[in-house]
Amino acid sequence: MGLLDAIKRAKEQKISAVAAVTAPLPHSGPLQADAPVSAEDEHSPAVLGVEDLNKILDSIQDIPTLPSIANKVIQAINDPQSNSKHIADIVKNDPALTARLLKVSNSAYYAGFSPCTSVQNAITRMGLMQIKRMVFSISILDAFDKYGAAGFNIKDFWKHSIAVAYNTRTIGKISRFRDNEELFTAGLLHDLGMLIIIKYMPEMFDAIMKKREISPEISFYECERADFPISHCEIGSWLSVRWQMSREIQSVIFNHHNPPIDSTIFEKDIVMFSAIVYLADRLSTRLEAGFLNDSGTEIDERIFNFVFGGSSSEEEVVGHLLKNKAMIEAAVSAL
Ligand SMILES: [Fe+2]
Ligand SMILES: [Fe+2]
Repeated sequence: MGLLDAIKRAKEQKISAVAAVTAPLPHSGPLQADAPVSAEDEHSPAVLGVEDLNKILDSIQDIPTLPSIANKVIQAINDPQSNSKHIADIVKNDPALTARLLKVSNSAYYAGFSPCTSVQNAITRMGLMQIKRMVFSISILDAFDKYGAAGFNIKDFWKHSIAVAYNTRTIGKISRFRDNEELFTAGLLHDLGMLIIIKYMPEMFDAIMKKREISPEISFYECERADFPISHCEIGSWLSVRWQMSREIQSVIFNHHNPPIDSTIFEKDIVMFSAIVYLADRLSTRLEAGFLNDSGTEIDERIFNFVFGGSSSEEEVVGHLLKNKAMIEAAVSAL
């Protein structure tokens, strides 16, 4: 029995059990006790609880682990003592990674008078933070290198993820919320669940792609919600828990389509993370870095105001994000 069948069967059993006792439907959602709750709970076709989903998803044997270089880079990012030599030493152990970093540092966006030939050189040219972001992005991307399906272009997927990552960070900064790398990581990983669907639930992915072939205006997420008991949000959130990512990142992956801005359960900071990624996702799609129309481009005014509190217009924000375009293209050149 495939993973999707197991989820469907568990859902059916749940529904019949619920109907039998006429009890209220259990919440869908959080994949661990203190994980975020979706704002859409009552409308979600996923009526499975945390434990049911965890049990089923935990049956995946060969789930990718967070690459060790990515892990080291996260630690380096969080360590105020880390410096360029420290990062160069981590990177130098991986020749493929080094080659891709040099490719970015020699791309049109960064190119200098002479070619960049060493990691240390690349760090000087691109800056330490940019190197950290690139190392993290490339190593995560490599972990999913072989994932593919008909109609799925992994390069477009990562282009979208990288664009959302840079734009998330910029929105965090211009909204005066926060200027940190956690926002970049949250943006980069927000659609991670899609990769798990491709590999472990290919029949779900194929059905969505077939539906979108006929009606491309329907988003990937809408197809999931309409026809399946689970979406890339719950699945990605499950993986982020396994990878021991921060609560902010788990929340972003779970809630990026519906940031719970009316929630009284979560601290405002946690909600801000998913609201900012929601905006970055839609605005990146508007700026031609979308993927499978997953988010659409329409923005809920309430969410925009939640992030900006009336201090900026949509047009101004788009103007800031346009400045990221060349840098995003340079980053994508390493793919
Ligand atoms: Fe998404
Ligand atoms: Fe997205």
